[in-house]
Amino acid sequence: MNIGKVLWIVILLALVLLLAGAAFSAPAWDPGRRELESRTPPQIPHSTEGRRDCLSCHRDGLRPPITPHPERVNCVQCHVPSQQ
Ligand code: HEC
Ligand code: HEC
Repeated sequence: MNIGKVLWIVILLALVLLLAGAAFSAPAWDPGRRELESRTPPQIPHSTEGRRDCLSCHRDGLRPPITPHPERVNCVQCHVPSQQ
């Protein structure tokens, strides 16, 4: 075997390893989305009767916990009332 052949084999091997590495390490998901899905939205501990405008309190209220995501307008899509 001459040096040229050995070099080609080494290069080919390196390429195969590189491609395999890319296939396994490439993130097939959006990390932001995964982070969101891994957390459970807290239940609404109070009645939603007469409290349909969630943001009136949770945008910048003094006592209620302020929502970290006022841009998600349909609150009850994720937050389930624990009582009616
Ligand atoms: C009149 C003000 C007011 C309105 C309107 C209101 N909330 Fe609340 N919310 C509170 C208060 C105060 C708390 C703190 C817990 C308690 O004392 O009941 C709270 C707590 C919560 C929590 C618990 C947060 C945590 O960290 O556990 C969630 C979730 C929540 N509210 C969602 C909602 C949603 C969804 C709506 C709309 C359907 C809404 N709230 C409307 C006052 C309000
Ligand atoms: C796409 C789903 C989704 C929607 C829609 C949504 N939330 Fe949330 N909410 C979550 C998740 C998940 C958490 C827990 C986040 C965390 O622990 O960082 C959360 C946390 C909260 C908390 C607790 C914050 C704290 O510090 O304790 C409040 C209050 C809240 N949301 C209010 C609201 C209000 C008000 C709306 C509507 C304007 C709303 N959410 C819409 C998913 C959602």
